[in-house]
Amino acid sequence: MSSVTSNIESTLHEDRVFAPPETFSRGAHIRSAEEYERLRAEASESPDNFWARMAEELHWFKKWDTVLKWDAPHAEWFGGGKINVSDNCLDRHLETWRRNKAALIWEGEPGEQRTFTYLQLHTEVCRFANVLKRFGVQTGDRVALYMPLIPELAMAMLACARIGATHSIIFGGFSADSLRDRINDAGCKLVVTADGGWRRGAEVKLKPTVDEAVKETPSVRTCIVVRRTGTRVHIEAGRDHWWHEVIETVDAHCPAEELDSEHPLYILYTSGTTGKPKGILHTTAGYLLQAHLTTKWVFDLKDEDTYWCTADIGWVTGHSYVVYGPLSNGATVVMYEGAPNYPEPDRFWRIIERHRVSVFYTAPTAIRAFIKWGEQWPLKHDLTSLRLLGTVGEPINPEAWMWYREIIGKGRCPIVDTWWQTETGAMMIAPLPGATPTKPGSATKPLPGIEADVMTRSGAPVGPNEGGYLVIKRPWPSMLRTIWGDDERYRATYWSEIDGVYFAGDGARRDADGYFWIMGRVDDVINVSGHRLGTMEVESALVSHAAVAEAAVVARPDEIKGSAIIAFVTLEGDRKATDGLKEELRRHVAKEIGALARPEEIRFSDQLPKTRSGKIMRRLLREIATSGGVQGDVTTLEDFSVLEKLRVHEEE
Ligand code: WT7
Repeated sequence: MSSVTSNIESTLHEDRVFAPPETFSRGAHIRSAEEYERLRAEASESPDNFWARMAEELHWFKKWDTVLKWDAPHAEWFGGGKINVSDNCLDRHLETWRRNKAALIWEGEPGEQRTFTYLQLHTEVCRFANVLKRFGVQTGDRVALYMPLIPELAMAMLACARIGATHSIIFGGFSADSLRDRINDAGCKLVVTADGGWRRGAEVKLKPTVDEAVKETPSVRTCIVVRRTGTRVHIEAGRDHWWHEVIETVDAHCPAEELDSEHPLYILYTSGTTGKPKGILHTTAGYLLQAHLTTKWVFDLKDEDTYWCTADIGWVTGHSYVVYGPLSNGATVVMYEGAPNYPEPDRFWRIIERHRVSVFYTAPTAIRAFIKWGEQWPLKHDLTSLRLLGTVGEPINPEAWMWYREIIGKGRCPIVDTWWQTETGAMMIAPLPGATPTKPGSATKPLPGIEADVMTRSGAPVGPNEGGYLVIKRPWPSMLRTIWGDDERYRATYWSEIDGVYFAGDGARRDADGYFWIMGRVDDVINVSGHRLGTMEVESALVSHAAVAEAAVVARPDEIKGSAIIAFVTLEGDRKATDGLKEELRRHVAKEIGALARPEEIRFSDQLPKTRSGKIMRRLLREIATSGGVQGDVTTLEDFSVLEKLRVHEEE
């Protein structure tokens, strides 16, 4: 917890408070602190009634019998209800004027634009749902989606949801091995992919990675390929089919299945403290309810808004806030395929100006990159359409928050810093922009219905401004239901660390006003550019290389990415420490896991500092990585012999 303690010190000095602009509050869904408090009180006094009242916002084929059945740590929300996510995101709007409203406005990195109205999107989704059925996908089957950020990805998700197939999206940056393991863990029957996508002017090939992965995935029978880049790809007769061809062979009639509230909607893999990623399972009604409600409340979304969340759909933010939350609200969603600095560092601002984006949601890592690139880029563009700015993924430092507010929001736009996780499914701690005064660097207060707290390791409450562990004390509708295929790990990871509460894995403190300040992970998980990576996962990848005897991976604070991955490696006896080998190892990790896991730096050492019981002293390595700087002579071995003395103390 040493990093947690130092964070407390740095944030304690932040005392700026920004009240919601009056003009904003006047038109907001939730207009005052009193209204927020009323909702919060209602939810805490009578949670079932509160959530039942909220659930009226969704379209149900059949209403629920019971709001919540809690058999700790297993929750069943809205039992007895029948509902469909695709129906809520599409069909319900077709009966209204939104029928011909733009649902998706997509921009490819090279510059193409495609727009789909709700009616058009509905047609495409129904057709693709029929394609899935044609290839034998049934309710309850799993479908893997390994795609660039193109409209077909949203269509494939909604098509799965429509027929009750559970999707598992694997971010396009993951390697063939990672893809294979995830497909096998979920037993996917079908894979949807593309020839490739565009990123920073270069093609990211996807189909060859799928070809490699499916050599060892016995469950996969079919692969559907979107033609995106036009590059030449291998098409395996009988297994592979082009999207644009099969879509022509089906009709556009496909009623949404009436599914149970707890029907599995999707699995999304995320890193944990062991080498094996966890398949986080989200189900239908509760997930949709909280994604829907938080989108409406926290983004204060209105029909006139043009909404853009820059996340890739491969992460949970894209699931909840590019697709399900905004579409169930009938919003116009902007989607952009590529990099923020292509062809120049003003691409995002260009997109905001072109489509008159009013609500913009991005990550601190992106904001810090914009700061580095310079304010001349946003200043070149008319950003007056913006009315609300959001951030997610990691703690935002007050300097970046202020820059976002001043340079992008011109001091006019409320900023919503939203704390949540893959596991929580939707936002948990966040301001309501018309009601909550904001403080730079704080996600403010739990949303109505969310009982968050800060506790000691033994579950005792902590006082104001004392650091502790962030926990959730009551089940919430969009919570994960289990870890796919490993319920024991679900119990152990989330419900056993502190008795009776959900353990988020983050350090936090609450100030005297009840505002939460999130201080980062307290486990062996590194948050790189807002993406989680387990140190164990990277260590396993390194050790799988023939030259590596042992590896320890730690995080080093990074100005842009939040944290950078630093690996300490000892080599097999006969291997020489060379710069070439460092490069090879970095490439090896990228190949094993994906480019996002590639260590920033590899440092060779003849031994790793350990306690007498053999535990690697990561805290020490973290200090060395943080203060030690980069070695001039890159082939020099790290000498830990001086640390021998410390062993004794470490154990005591
Ligand atoms: C972890 C969850 C939620 C979507 C993106 C990441 C960190 C997330 C914030 C925030 C401080 C944050 C936490 C959390 N985190 N949002 N607003 N302030 N930290 O999803 O990959 O599941 O990671 O991201 O450490 O536990 P994820």
